[in-house]
Amino acid sequence: MYTLIDGKAISEQIKLEIAKEVKNMVAKGAKRPHLAVIIVGHDGGSESYVAGKVKDCGDCGFTSTLIRFEEDVTEETLLAEVDKLNKNQDVDGFIVQLPIPKHISEEKVIEAIDYRKDVDGFHPVNVGRMTIGLPCYVSATPAGIIELLKRYEIPTAGKNCVVIGRSNIVGKPIATLMMQKGYPGDATVTVCHSRTKNLKEICLQADIIIAALGQPEFLKGDMVKDGVTIIDVGTTRVPSTLTESGFKLKGDVAFDEVAPKASFITPVPGGVGLMTRIALMQNTLLAAKGEIY
Ligand code: GUN
Repeated sequence: MYTLIDGKAISEQIKLEIAKEVKNMVAKGAKRPHLAVIIVGHDGGSESYVAGKVKDCGDCGFTSTLIRFEEDVTEETLLAEVDKLNKNQDVDGFIVQLPIPKHISEEKVIEAIDYRKDVDGFHPVNVGRMTIGLPCYVSATPAGIIELLKRYEIPTAGKNCVVIGRSNIVGKPIATLMMQKGYPGDATVTVCHSRTKNLKEICLQADIIIAALGQPEFLKGDMVKDGVTIIDVGTTRVPSTLTESGFKLKGDVAFDEVAPKASFITPVPGGVGLMTRIALMQNTLLAAKGEIY
């Protein structure tokens, strides 16, 4: 029988812990942590993610500022806003919701953010510091996965950990963290991607599989061994007539086939996604407390 890793319960618990800490800080005269979010255009996914972030700020007792630009905003205007937020002493951390329109360089925008306010952990300084094990902002999804492994006390030392997916925001950083010295880390990590040969054979050797490739129900029951721990990062929106929103989220794991063989498994929704949301709040609190930089 598997243990369902309950991202909802854990994230709600962390939210309460943060709210309590903020209440104590404010009672002692500190200002509330302040997160600013820039959104460009009206992408449906981005709109709902950003609404979630603003709501989480309220629940945690943070101040939030939402800054909107239309799809046709110039790179210059966006960079000027980033500069303004870098200099705004009241803002502890800020993010630019991705994706941004093609005519604006994502790389330029991320690099323009002061890394000390980069609570997304996307700036090359934060990525580099994470790689060599220095204090930094770790991006939200890998940070959320690490938190789940810790709270469920899942052993990682010496385990075979297979990461499927090599994106800059999930695959690469989680692979780095899983091989880092200490807990949760010390794993033997294999990173698989679209050009990998013998993916099934590699997955069958895995004690821990982190599926982050964005292909619904990619990981099947015959690709995993008994007792495996499964972390499903997939959140593909597929059309559905059964939900009010008209879509539902599908993970990268064929849950019904894989779960009976697993020791621990995350559901979708209700697993990693909610942890990703709370990790941004944790980073913003760290920023407000000046604990990293
Ligand atoms: N788009 C999808 N996920 C994220 C995220 O974590 N941060 C930002 N800035 N944009 C995103």
